[in-house]
Amino acid sequence: MSQIPAVLVTGASTGIGATYAERFAQRGHDLVLVARDVARMEAVASRLRQETGVTVDILQADLTQAADLAKVETRLRDDAHIGILINNAGTAMGGTFVQQSTDDMARLVALNTTALVRLASAIAPRLAVAGEGAIVNIGSVVGLAPEYGMTVYGATKAFVLFLSQGLSLELGPKGVYVQAVLPATTRTEIWDHVGADVNAMKNVMEVGDLVDAALVGFDRREVVTIPPLPDAGQWDAFDLARKTMMANFGNALPGERYRNPA
Ligand SMILES: NC(=O)c1ccc[n+]([C@@H]2O[C@H](COP(=O)([O-])OP(=O)(O)OC[C@H]3O[C@@H](n4cnc5c(N)ncnc54)[C@H](OP(=O)(O)O)[C@@H]3O)[C@@H](O)[C@H]2O)c1
Repeated sequence: MSQIPAVLVTGASTGIGATYAERFAQRGHDLVLVARDVARMEAVASRLRQETGVTVDILQADLTQAADLAKVETRLRDDAHIGILINNAGTAMGGTFVQQSTDDMARLVALNTTALVRLASAIAPRLAVAGEGAIVNIGSVVGLAPEYGMTVYGATKAFVLFLSQGLSLELGPKGVYVQAVLPATTRTEIWDHVGADVNAMKNVMEVGDLVDAALVGFDRREVVTIPPLPDAGQWDAFDLARKTMMANFGNALPGERYRNPA
């Protein structure tokens, strides 16, 4: 890997991914942009080449399609210049569980989880051997809050959080940094896809603020970064509650309340 690794960003044609691409270009990283819309990626790429002088490659891929996904996996496996993966491509959908179509759910799960884990799996062995590099997975606070009513989307984001925490435990000791970023409502086009008007919402974070905060967490090597959360102690308390409960999982007998139900 070179001094300044290249960064592969999925979902780089707009929104959070395009902003990550811009910020890493400003830091002097070469880029590989991945998404479906080539014209939009070309526009991002030519601006960034001009403004920053970095090299920007474009890889068109629909990450729900196996052949396209394989193309990106191959690039991650083989291109030793790529040292950072920003696993950002993702979408959401409107409606309740019974209103959503089974096929739409499957496509959402394919993009938000299957593609994300396959891309992490493609790059992780190489980074582990190199003893350096980073994988950033974009989750969501929705993954912590079934109460928000975005059940399938939230479930995919809970997957992203768990995967990131597990990968951090596995890869951290090998020198590979893994970060989960959990945005809350951020002003991007994702809300159009859900059928919601983001401009009518309160407490919307601007995408530049979101990515800049996520990069502060990245530079600090945080495992979990929640940009809108004012008090990091709340996350620490939540995580401590989980670890405290874990100590009670190792029992041969069911809990008393199940052995002698009232
Ligand atoms: N905005 C929020 O409020 C918010 C909050 C929490 C988490 N997030 C997460 O942040 C990430 C980025 O979202 P965003 O808000 O920036 O959304 P966005 O503005 O809709 O952008 C999504 C990006 O993903 C790409 N993409 C969508 N489907 C794809 C596919 N099948 N194959 C390849 N690329 C695909 C899109 O490009 P093409 O259409 O060109 O393929 C686009 O570049 C997502 O994982 C999302 O869940 C967003």
